[in-house]
Amino acid sequence: MEKRERFLMSFAGKLFQATLMTTAMIGFAYAAPTLDSNKNYVKLKNFKPNPKIENKQCLSCHKAQDPGLVKDWAHSKHAKAGVGCVQCHVVPKDYPNAFKTHPLKGTNWTVQAAVSSVTCAKCHAKEVKEFMNSGHSRGGAQWLKENENPHGKAMTKLAYGYEGMRGGAGIDKEFTLNKDNPKANLTVANICVQCHGTIIKLNSQGKPLPTTWPSDGIASLYPDGGVGNCVSCHSRHKFSAEEARQPASCSNCHLGPDHPDKEVFESSVHGHIFDTNEKDYKFDTGKQIPGKTLRAATCFTCHMSSINDLKATHNVSERLKWNLWAPNSFERTGNAETAGWAWWSQKKVLRGNPKAGNLQGPDEARSEMKQTCSSCHDAAFISNYFKRVDADVNLYNQYRNLSVKMYKELKAKGLIKKDVWSDPYFKLMYYAWHHEGRRMRQGAAMGSPDYAHWHGVFQVMQDIREMKDIYNYRMRMLKKLKDPKKVLEQEPPMPVVTHE
Ligand code: HEC
Ligand code: HEC
Ligand code: HEC
Ligand code: HEC
Ligand code: HEC
Ligand code: HEC
Ligand code: HEC
Ligand code: HEC
Repeated sequence: MEKRERFLMSFAGKLFQATLMTTAMIGFAYAAPTLDSNKNYVKLKNFKPNPKIENKQCLSCHKAQDPGLVKDWAHSKHAKAGVGCVQCHVVPKDYPNAFKTHPLKGTNWTVQAAVSSVTCAKCHAKEVKEFMNSGHSRGGAQWLKENENPHGKAMTKLAYGYEGMRGGAGIDKEFTLNKDNPKANLTVANICVQCHGTIIKLNSQGKPLPTTWPSDGIASLYPDGGVGNCVSCHSRHKFSAEEARQPASCSNCHLGPDHPDKEVFESSVHGHIFDTNEKDYKFDTGKQIPGKTLRAATCFTCHMSSINDLKATHNVSERLKWNLWAPNSFERTGNAETAGWAWWSQKKVLRGNPKAGNLQGPDEARSEMKQTCSSCHDAAFISNYFKRVDADVNLYNQYRNLSVKMYKELKAKGLIKKDVWSDPYFKLMYYAWHHEGRRMRQGAAMGSPDYAHWHGVFQVMQDIREMKDIYNYRMRMLKKLKDPKKVLEQEPPMPVVTHE
């Protein structure tokens, strides 16, 4: 089987018993994306608000109403350059995001409360295009049930997957998932959404609904086709590049047991140097001059910055050779991300392209990443380092393949429980990929000994041993009892070790 198919099979087929092949085919056949493919963007780009609507008017009410917000704006480069409330918020009354009943009387213009990247693209087309080409732009699209494919549905199930779903045992009915239960929907707005983004929905007056807004999720999907929250890294209303260059601007999402990039960075030598010498780092400039503006790399240096003749980019996938979040790592050969662009063009949301990376392919991605290192390290150091990274990724894939092989054999014999989340084999397989396996790969790639080893490969190895024990036990008992149901019923509880 081809690598890509294997990934898709193991991801959805094994984990959620859903087939993905049709989606995959649509996902990968998506045409080359452009900004002008969004009609609302074209409309907004040429839209000139009534000159009678002035920033002063906005301030006349909002300065008292939202003083903090107005101060942030006043201290921004936007304010200095003459970009005011009007340039970002005023839209025609028939605009999809329009807040129709806003108290701005006597004009055909109104304001939008939910401001998407369609508005930013009027003036920052380069950044928006790069963002749209990156894996970030799929953040909201890939897990929602509105994404008409089995992947989205399976992910939504996971999102809503607390015990209350199963008949409400132990949880009040009003929190049980059901479209008529607004409280349950509100709780969902506090999970995946906060990091990934969601579909922003408005009421009939154009006011955003509390189930979907506010959210600083990286790739919220707006009614005007806009994708992405530029405010995830450039908090409103300062919209500062300086703030976004700090590792902290990534760390509020990139942490925790399943993608501990914050912790990985902090425990690497680069993180140690940053912690010790933070005051010497200059984040008010994009220039990365070793010894002058920084001493060692931060997230932004390696993934986005203009360093050593590289161009700065908002495409965080551009310097990635591997896909390290996937159940089975593969090289990123598939060019631009597609899910965000599909929404931008007001098409159905698609699964997206997990192979999205450097537009010139994985070798170019690797060589750009090496170029970031080579402003501080020597060629042999870098080359040896990445040989070890690749070896770790390949070792992980072998563990993964073994766990899937045993899973398939158990499944074929009816030896996997129907509710997979109470099956210890399945849970171990999940953790070995989703938590420990990611830690092993990301720890190795970003120089954290503890995450590469003790939180990583060591635990993957323990999982595999436990999986083998369960496999052997079930196969042995099947010979004895003949009936797979009985084997599962009589199995003693097998505690799954904590995977923090
Ligand atoms: C006459 C006073 C007044 C003026 C002038 C005014 N606003 Fe407002 N604005 C309000 C009030 C009151 C609300 C809250 C309305 C509501 O929630 O129903 C509001 C809400 C908003 C919101 C939505 C906030 C949210 O959380 O839902 C935005 C955005 C906004 N105004 C921007 C502007 C801009 C931009 C201008 C200038 C073009 C402007 N306002 C001029 C009074 C005003
Ligand atoms: C560079 C573009 C830009 C400028 C300039 C701008 N805003 Fe905003 N504003 C945004 C974005 C982006 C959001 C967040 C939208 C979202 O979350 O969907 C926002 C959100 C808001 C909100 C709702 C969020 C909250 O915290 O209550 C208000 C109110 C608002 N802006 C008012 C203003 C006012 C008043 C000004 C002028 C002083 C202004 N904005 C200037 C882009 C801008
Ligand atoms: C009407 C044009 C316009 C719009 C719309 C606009 N910007 Fe800007 N933006 C500018 C200008 C002009 C500058 C200042 C450039 C400079 O000083 O070098 C700027 C600067 C920036 C910077 C750099 C700030 C820094 O600290 O160097 C960021 C980040 C930014 N904008 C983000 C956004 C985001 C996000 C949006 C959408 C919510 C947006 N802008 C909408 C015109 C715009
Ligand atoms: C608001 C949350 C949030 C912030 C802030 C954030 N990210 Fe992400 N990032 C995500 C999510 C969610 C994904 C996974 C998207 C997906 O694949 O569905 C992701 C994915 C990535 C990826 C992998 C992309 C791919 O193609 O698989 C990289 C690299 C990355 N982020 C780097 C960064 C860096 C560097 C920063 C800071 C400058 C940052 N992120 C800030 C949420 C965030
Ligand atoms: C704390 C922020 C955060 C939360 C909460 C979160 N994620 Fe993620 N998620 C991320 C980041 C960051 C990545 C990227 C990891 C990487 O690139 O290795 C990611 C990656 C993923 C991926 C793999 C990328 C892809 O496109 O398939 C999926 C699927 C995913 N998350 C689904 C979910 C679901 C479903 C939930 C809620 C049950 C959720 N996430 C909650 C931050 C978060
Ligand atoms: C993952 C974090 C992240 C997200 C999301 C993000 N930015 Fe940025 N942005 C940065 C960083 C870091 C810089 C500094 C880049 C540099 O110094 O080269 C920056 C710089 C900028 C600048 C200034 C560029 C310059 O040359 O001075 C603009 C404009 C900008 N961003 C707009 C946007 C827009 C529009 C979006 C939404 C599509 C967005 N950003 C989303 C991290 C982010
Ligand atoms: C010294 C450079 C460096 C620093 C600093 C760094 N990274 Fe990385 N990062 C890498 C490399 C190298 C890879 C693996 C690239 C590949 O696929 O070949 C990677 C991979 C990732 C991935 C995994 C993407 C996937 O495929 O799942 C994410 C997410 C990420 N980094 C986010 C961050 C965040 C957030 C920070 C800061 C807290 C950070 N990185 C700091 C170099 C760095
Ligand atoms: C801005 C300069 C800078 C950049 C860029 C940079 N590093 Fe470093 N790195 C340092 C410094 C300084 C140290 C600490 C001195 C040392 O131990 O060599 C260090 C230490 C390390 C170490 C630990 C040293 C050891 O012997 O184990 C590794 C591994 C490493 N870097 C890998 C990389 C890789 C890989 C890249 C590119 C993806 C990179 N670095 C990018 C400055 C940088």
